[in-house]
Amino acid sequence: MQNQAKNKKTAESTFYNHPIWFYIRHNPRPFVLGMTFLIITNSLDAVYPLVMKTAIDQIEGLVPMTEITRTCLIFLAIMSSLALTRYSWRTYFGKFHTYAAEHIRQKLFNHLTSLGPNFFHKNQVGELMSLLTNDVQSFRQAVGPALLVLADGFIIILVVLPIMISLNWSWTWKTLIFLPMVPLLIWKVMGLINKNYKIQQEKFSELTSLVQETIGGIRVIKGFSQEDHRTAVFNKISASFEHACNKVAKVDSLFMPVMEFGVTSGSVILLFIAKEDLYTGAVTIGTFVAFHRYIQKMVWPMTALGMGFSNFQKGYASFERIKKVLLTESDIYDVGTTVISKFETLEFRNVSFKYKNCEVYALKDISFKLRAGESLGIMGPVGSGKTTLVNLLTRLYPLEEGQILVNGIPIENITLDCLRSLFLLIPQEAFLFSESLKDNVTFGLSEPAHLDTVLRMADVVDLTDEINALPLKFDSQLGERGVNLSGGQKQRLTIARGLIMQTPVLILDDSLSAVDTRTEKAIENELAKTTATFSRIIVAHRLSSLKTVDHLLILKDGHKEAWGTYEEVLQSSPTFQKIIHFQGTETHSEQ
Ligand SMILES: Nc1ncnc2c1ncn2[C@@H]1O[C@H](COP(=O)(O)OP(=O)(O)OP(=O)(O)O)[C@@H](O)[C@H]1O
Ligand SMILES: [Mg+2]
Repeated sequence: MQNQAKNKKTAESTFYNHPIWFYIRHNPRPFVLGMTFLIITNSLDAVYPLVMKTAIDQIEGLVPMTEITRTCLIFLAIMSSLALTRYSWRTYFGKFHTYAAEHIRQKLFNHLTSLGPNFFHKNQVGELMSLLTNDVQSFRQAVGPALLVLADGFIIILVVLPIMISLNWSWTWKTLIFLPMVPLLIWKVMGLINKNYKIQQEKFSELTSLVQETIGGIRVIKGFSQEDHRTAVFNKISASFEHACNKVAKVDSLFMPVMEFGVTSGSVILLFIAKEDLYTGAVTIGTFVAFHRYIQKMVWPMTALGMGFSNFQKGYASFERIKKVLLTESDIYDVGTTVISKFETLEFRNVSFKYKNCEVYALKDISFKLRAGESLGIMGPVGSGKTTLVNLLTRLYPLEEGQILVNGIPIENITLDCLRSLFLLIPQEAFLFSESLKDNVTFGLSEPAHLDTVLRMADVVDLTDEINALPLKFDSQLGERGVNLSGGQKQRLTIARGLIMQTPVLILDDSLSAVDTRTEKAIENELAKTTATFSRIIVAHRLSSLKTVDHLLILKDGHKEAWGTYEEVLQSSPTFQKIIHFQGTETHSEQ
């Protein structure tokens, strides 16, 4: 057990410090096979100019035709093998880097789902999308193509250079004299590329954020006739993205000419230095042709080194960004071990809470106690802390001051799974997924639900007729965020999604605003079936939703203004009196 934990820790540390080594160890087969085929390919590739040299020399020397034919056959065999080995290394390397990219993407996504809302307040959707797409892609480039071209470049140098030296040492050093300058130029160009690439990435993530927000808020944008303004903002960012891309392309384009000039200058030098030897016949035309071919072959390794290093740096910069998110710990620690089978009491003891980077308390010194079977209504003006209170109870945010106790046990000591199986929060904002209606209702269930249960839930929230009117009924697909439903339908569907979970305590955060009194009663009856001691916590602005609750908690600016029965709070809470006054007047005027 201890060994296992130690191995896991070592693997984690390898992943963060030497990611490429981590992937080689975790998926050695495609890497080793890819590398083997690459070495074979480069060796064969290096041999064929020698075969060509032999053929030319044989033709010049007027050797028997059979010998030339044999050389041609060897040439054919080398070229066919080359095609095969080239195909093989590409396939194996492809497998290797695709595995690495998918592994890191899944790791990142899993980690993101474990983080609390505080993290998502700080990081925009666009940035996170860019992390999961661009950064993963550029990491894949480093683990795959960049690593590959680097290896390719080194192997070619290692194979070609000795052959060149063996052909003619003096030609070798004279023609490759400019070679040491190349890495220097590479670093210069690389620095420029990376700097501009970073700007390009930032612009891209700005662009993605804007697109996300615009599509998400398209109804608001249209409602306020802001299409033109939005388009103008988009075009502006898009133009700056184009500018950034052009800058990257400009410095990227410097790369090849610099490389090629550095190395092909060798061809010119070769002509100068070889002309006399060729005249006198000291060297054969075959040797000259082969040597020239080798000089050409050195262009790629030099370019490969440059490209490989550049992509490697880009990939590592991306990995650093991914690593930063992966190392961000959730502020909701799931270290509690207590499991509660039966809910008895809920107690808030002097709970105060401030949002991160906020000076003002969203909740201040809140205390109350609720027993199983009792219901609680929470009222208060906009921004008085109602949602904050229920979010704290379900541990969406970490509690720093005071205590929340369930059956006398602090919620931090209870496992998160257990806590969320006791309390189910139906949030203020109805969020549906682009799946079928049935999948949305049964979203939280670990086992597939019987259709009868789903039908009953739809009945409770009074959606049966509407769902039956759809061509595919419960199998009807919802658009993104449930766009093809009305606001009220969405709200009712989220209530059905909560009810089906049959938790001992159901929390409705302003979810009843689109529900009439008859449906409210049906929901109450449904809850009563779940358990004899079910509890409800209802956050509402409407008095009618809170008529039957046992306790009322009135919040004002994060403080507890009053607690008690309807009559008690009516006596002590000016806020409640005001609500009664306005809502009573409205009811009056309606009549
Ligand atoms: N993520 C956040 N970061 C910073 N401050 C926040 C955040 N969420 C809420 N607040 C602030 O905390 C206070 C309480 O907000 P809360 O959402 O709990 O109010 P509420 O009573 O539910 O209001 P409403 O009736 O509008 O739903 C408000 O002043 C709000 O601006
Ligand atoms: Mg709220």
